[in-house]
This record gives sequence, structure tokens and C-alpha cells, in this order.
Amino acid sequence: AVSSLQDMSGPTSPSFDDDYADVNWDELGFSLMPTDYMYTMKCSKDERFSHGELNRYGNIELSPSSGVLNYGQFLLFSCLNQDPCYISLKQGLFEGLKAYRKVGGGFLLFRPEENARRMQMGADRMCMPSPSIEQFVVAVKETVLANKCWVPPPGKGSLYVRPLLIGSGPVLGLAPAPDYTFLIYASPVANYFKEGLSPLNLVIDDEFHRSTPGGTGNVKTISNYAPVLKPQKRAKSQGFSDVLYLDSLKKKNLEEVSSCNIFLVKGNFISTPATDGTILAGITRKSIIDIARSFGYQVEEREIPVEELIEADEVFCTGTAVVVAPVGSITYQGKRFEYKSGAGTVSQKLCSTLTGIQTGVLEDKMGWTIEI
Ligand code: COI
Repeated sequence: AVSSLQDMSGPTSPSFDDDYADVNWDELGFSLMPTDYMYTMKCSKDERFSHGELNRYGNIELSPSSGVLNYGQFLLFSCLNQDPCYISLKQGLFEGLKAYRKVGGGFLLFRPEENARRMQMGADRMCMPSPSIEQFVVAVKETVLANKCWVPPPGKGSLYVRPLLIGSGPVLGLAPAPDYTFLIYASPVANYFKEGLSPLNLVIDDEFHRSTPGGTGNVKTISNYAPVLKPQKRAKSQGFSDVLYLDSLKKKNLEEVSSCNIFLVKGNFISTPATDGTILAGITRKSIIDIARSFGYQVEEREIPVEELIEADEVFCTGTAVVVAPVGSITYQGKRFEYKSGAGTVSQKLCSTLTGIQTGVLEDKMGWTIEI
């Protein structure tokens, strides 16, 4: 049944439809399907967030001079390696997390307090106030429950929850915005890449970089994503799935893919770039490290020179949207390196354990999920 909710403009608690929304769940990909409600909470720069509310999903009103549209969208010249390297800083952060429908009823959230903590850390870097961990988690729960008919059936996908924190008040001179808006909306999703569960074919782009030391590569700021669109577009036009970036200083160490972290497997060793300031501290990354260690793998967070791609048995990507995606090949300076994927691989074992916990099919010995 299509959700039959009344229009609501205030904070009154509506009663939410238990049935499914009218969606062809077999055709879900990773594109926006607007749901019924969004959550909004506002505060000014010297205050704390205090009162959030659910409203019908729809456009928001924003001053043309709002912080997020104007500042700090300044360009910062980095002379670390004598190369022009620009970082645009915007007062805007986002998060991503998923809600799963359990077999037999109920919904599971995966580590929402980790997203809350990461938003707090990012807000501090971007001079913004942020919701408390409790406020963030309550807001996520309310948003999921308000949109529960949009959570796909078990095995068909998840409800992707997108919290945003933006400088919404007007500024003219360069300064933190006077007012801030915390907003959450949601969309049902399935596989992130058009490849589905098939292995990705990545290319290393040594012209563009995703982040620089001293920049904001470790912060989930909106400004880390627009700069990767151009190299990503070029890679896709050449038939690749996405771009793997190298560090901008030495131009020799692996960093991450446009929207996910990267792991290499060699025998019993699993390596991933250390979160030293230029790498996003992915929550899936962290969870996969813990799962791999619990299976007895030796996990190393360190610098990974690009040459190690030659020796790796397997490569895989992790992210909330991506989950765990096997990499079938990486092309670097015209050479293509190929990797194992499919049945019996380490990435598949890690992926099925993670998704088993996320969906409630496996016992959650880690205590990562929250049932709502
Ligand atoms: C996520 O994995 O949740 C992200 O934020 C990546 C985004 C580009 C879809």
C-alpha cells in the first residue's frame, strides 16, 4: 500500500503506515527515491541544537547568502609539493547510514552513534555546532520510523539515511555562518555500483588528488565530493567503474576511491591506508577491520605504495553505500593488474559476515546494531 499519511507541518507525532510503499523492490539501484518525511533541527552559532521535528519531505528555503552556498568556499593554495592543489572548504557536512528490515519484522540501524561522532569531529573542523550523539541517534530513529514503509523487504536493499549539517544563516564577509540546520532525509537503495555485485575495474588517476595533508580529506564534508566528479567522469568514459587516488605529496601511496575506502589482501595479511588525515575514517572500514581480526587475519593500517598492487591476491572497497565491493582489476599507467573475486574469497567472507550482522541474519556479537 502507498503510504497514506496526512500532511503535517508541525512537530505533532503522526501515525505511520506499517505497510510497504508502492515500489518495485527488484529494480532498486542507488538513486534518490523521495520518501515521506524529513527531520529538521536548527540552532544559531552560540547555541546548542535543542528541538527537532519531522515534516513532509520537500524543498528547503535557504538564504542566497547562506554559509553553505558562499563560504568557506575559498580556494586554499597548497605549496607542499610545488604543485597547484586547491581545496575548497564549505560549511557543509553529510553522513550516510542504513536501516534494514529484519526477517519477521523490526528494523536494524548499524552503528549510528559512529556517524554522530564523525559528524561532531567534522563540525569541529568546519567551525560548526553539532547535535549531541543522543540527538543524532534519536533523529535517525525518528526519520526511519516515519519512513518505515520505504525500508525494502529483507534481501532487497536498505533505507539509506542521509544526515546533513549546513551553515544555513547569511554571511557576507568570510566567517562561520550565524545559523545552522541539521537535516535528515532517506531513500530506499540497493547496490551502489551499476556493476551490482560484479567486480569493479578501477583506474589510478595520477593527475587529480582527492585530498592533501592539512586539508579535509578525513572529514565528511560536501567539498570532498565535487572535485572527484571530473576524474570519475573521465574514468567512466574510458569504461572504468571508478578512480583510485594516490596521495598528493609523494604521489605513490594509495589513498581511497571516490566514495569508499580500499583494502588489499595478500595471504593472511589485509592492509588498508592509515587514517592519517587524508583518508575518510569509514565506519564500514572500521567494522571490516574488526571482523577480519576476529577471523585471525593480520590487519595493517599503514602507507601502501602503489607497487603493492602487483603482489596483491585480492582488492576490495568498503563504504556505507558500497558495503564491500570486490575489485577485479586496477589499471595504473596503462598496466592492468587483476585480482581474485567471487566464491571463497576473503572479501566475500567479510562481506557476508558484515551484511549478516547488519540485516540480523547473524548474531551481532559485536553489539553494533540497534533494533527499532
Ligand atoms: C556513503 O557511503 O554513505 C557515502 O557517503 C558515499 C557517498 C558518495 C554515497
